[in-house]
Amino acid sequence: MSVVSISSSEYARRRRRLMNEMEPGSIAVIPAATLQRRNRDIFYPFRQDSDFYYLTGFSEPDALLVLVPLREQGEAILFCREKDPKLEQRDGVILGPEAAVTTIGVDDAFPVADEDEILPGLLESRHRIYMTMGEYPSFDARILSYVAHIRGRESGGAQPPGEFVSLKHLLHEHRLFKSPMEIALMRQAAEISANAHLRAMRKVRLGMLESQLEAELVYEFMRSGAVAAAYPSIVGGGENACVLHYTDNNCTLNSGELVLIDAGCEYQHYAGDITRTLPINGSYSPAQKALYNIVLAANKAAIELCRPGQHFNAPHEAAVTVMVEGLIKLGILQGVRDEIIANADYLAFCPHKSSHWLGIDVHDVGDYRLHDEWRPLQPGMVLTIEPGIYIPRTAQTAKVPEQYRGMGIRIEDDVLITEAGYDVLSSSVAKETAAIEKLMQVQ
Ligand code: GLY
Ligand code: MN
Ligand code: MN
Repeated sequence: MSVVSISSSEYARRRRRLMNEMEPGSIAVIPAATLQRRNRDIFYPFRQDSDFYYLTGFSEPDALLVLVPLREQGEAILFCREKDPKLEQRDGVILGPEAAVTTIGVDDAFPVADEDEILPGLLESRHRIYMTMGEYPSFDARILSYVAHIRGRESGGAQPPGEFVSLKHLLHEHRLFKSPMEIALMRQAAEISANAHLRAMRKVRLGMLESQLEAELVYEFMRSGAVAAAYPSIVGGGENACVLHYTDNNCTLNSGELVLIDAGCEYQHYAGDITRTLPINGSYSPAQKALYNIVLAANKAAIELCRPGQHFNAPHEAAVTVMVEGLIKLGILQGVRDEIIANADYLAFCPHKSSHWLGIDVHDVGDYRLHDEWRPLQPGMVLTIEPGIYIPRTAQTAKVPEQYRGMGIRIEDDVLITEAGYDVLSSSVAKETAAIEKLMQVQ
């Protein structure tokens, strides 16, 4: 796998594009993520804020990007930690403001400790502040306190900002459309994730713990240069597969049951997100195959609608139609297809949507609707296709034929919208029952 990475000129282009679309006389403030304490002096692994990373490629905590279009002394300003040999001995290299100017390509950089002194001056006389509100309450409060402080000097001629606008409207639209370099990274994230699923297929054994299968996934992620999983891996044997975000992964895998694996790596900050559902003993029973093939047909029908000219919800609608028809045929749903869909009676077995955007965040940013309509799919968007059918042994499913109860099946692929239609980034991991059974025979 060739190693690609995003150049500092691409980050500069992203900042320029955002500044070009900001109102004249405005300012944007984009904070880095902060370290989160796990216990005492141990912290969770640091993950940079996605908006901040998209605009800088800088992955240190305690930093702030400020964009001030047309500011003569410099438009892109970074606040970051100062170099500190003692801290660096413990936690690793700190870039420092001096090196940040050339390494990150910003116009100016200051110690983060000087923020209180410098930032109010940058905010003053800017009528609009762009920021992601609600993400970091203490940062929001700090910005408000700066504004209040400026307001306190209004009678002396100070001009406080009067408008706060969510960055979402500009920046998240940009993030929704992936550049060629981002697509190259997402291909790699998908390829590593696919390899992990292929490894899991080879490693499943009766009596294994779900966590042991999770370890095989993480092994493949990390040996391939991914940081780890893009989200907690779901490895659910038997009925655990019916818990949509099951992450306990502490049960034994039993013969005659399926195991649902929903796992993807984070590679250079981009997520893979793939689900496959395997027969633990290596072959699908007739009932498992019947239900599986409905989900597979739904997955394929949905992917066929991943193309420019279709709207975001069209693949989901196609998946629901296929699943409802299949569930009627198996006697799991009773009634007329279109009435079941209109009344949403299928939600008892197909409770979730079939897609979300995928990118730096696994549930990536970008509006799903524009002007109250599902938005059209366009080249450069990446979304998942993940229909699922779940039949837990609950009172609600008491009338379902016994052979279908206790099963959860989801099949999830990562799909890039292209000019011509679609490109399934996760296509190297088998999803036909015969192909999966064959792969499971390989040790
Ligand atoms: N793994 C989370 C999802 O599929 O959306
Ligand atoms: Mn998933
Ligand atoms: Mn997903």
